[in-house]
Amino acid sequence: MSLDNSNNLFTYKNNSLHFNRHDLMQHQCIKNYKSPFLLYDLNIVQDRLNWLKEWKGLGRLHFAMKSNYTEDVLKLILKNGCGVDVVSLGEIKLALKVGFKPQDILFSGVAKTVSEIEWAVQNDLYQINVESISELKRVDQISQRLNKQVNVGLRLNPEVDAKTHPNIATALKDSKFGLNLSDLPAVESVLKSTKQIQLKSLSFHIGSQVMDVTIFQEAIVRMKAIFSDFQKRYSSLDRFDLGGGLGINYKDHDISHDQKRWQDLKAIYEKELAGIKADFLIEMGRFVVARSAILIAQLQYIKKTENKTIAILDVGMNNLLRPMLYQAYHQLYPLTQRQAKQTYMIAGPICESSDIFHQDIELTELQEGDFVAIADAGAYAKSMASNYNLQPIAEDYFL
Ligand SMILES: Cc1ncc(COP(=O)(O)O)c(C=O)c1O
Repeated sequence: MSLDNSNNLFTYKNNSLHFNRHDLMQHQCIKNYKSPFLLYDLNIVQDRLNWLKEWKGLGRLHFAMKSNYTEDVLKLILKNGCGVDVVSLGEIKLALKVGFKPQDILFSGVAKTVSEIEWAVQNDLYQINVESISELKRVDQISQRLNKQVNVGLRLNPEVDAKTHPNIATALKDSKFGLNLSDLPAVESVLKSTKQIQLKSLSFHIGSQVMDVTIFQEAIVRMKAIFSDFQKRYSSLDRFDLGGGLGINYKDHDISHDQKRWQDLKAIYEKELAGIKADFLIEMGRFVVARSAILIAQLQYIKKTENKTIAILDVGMNNLLRPMLYQAYHQLYPLTQRQAKQTYMIAGPICESSDIFHQDIELTELQEGDFVAIADAGAYAKSMASNYNLQPIAEDYFL
């Protein structure tokens, strides 16, 4: 890993870690440290929103709130004219609280309850993305009962392998997410029998942390044939929802590589979607926010065992579950760099043997009391946090 590249988010100057050029040891929140916290640079989010806007075909980004629902992040998303993709009434309520309108809210999720759908129909949400035949029937019954029209998107499962961790792949056969292509005849018979449902969109989301952009191409090619066919029968169908899922390389902090990955995806969108008349929506989360925050923690103890040197931090799976849930890699940077190198097991404080960030990671030498930054904690960190062991949930600070 090179740390001298100017595009690198993390650099050392005078042995002191800089995050996006900010000298962390000089920051007040390190000087007054009490417990682990998230430190954001929202310029990183803004840069990514600017990249996405370079795609002239983009109808609207619906930011996937599940990746991060920090209010300052959501306000920035709102200020940029984006909408949100939500998966619960809780997320809807928060979106409204920060200023989004019902018309900015796209409602996904596999288990929408009667009361959630009633709320969505009564409040004229932008679109409900339906994920099963039973859900479609439920939406129909509720909208008939309330005598309201409802905008529906069908989340279809294009049956492509996202080549990501199985726990975050969502478009394989037998997935709980989305409608299967074989469900379409049954879906169409519901659509034909209702006056309440406006079919507005076809949607797909193949999974999260997708690194190979050609997989999006494969999914689009499959989906656009269905989209064009449906448009012949449903004149209301004017939105094509391309989902989220674009990944980042958690071992590489050269930002130009992220930009290149987006540009490659944009080129696929431009090529494959030319000639389709629709508003194109994307539902990205991780790619927009993951890089924008670091999780700052303090090393409590160094413990030697027969085979390991274990560095025990005051933060663990309570504030960053991804490494324990699906073996995700998060780079760790000591705030103060020393000369010697050492391989560490990095553990958290939680009373679970799986509360381990790294089994073996080579770092510059650590001492008890040192601060460390865990990289790429802006997505699926705090939004998945818990109070397990009654440990505190990390607070947010901003650079
Ligand atoms: C329907 C849907 N849209 C968007 C996302 C956001 O994915 P990501 O954060 O990988 O962009 C998810 C997350 O899995 C999702 O399930």
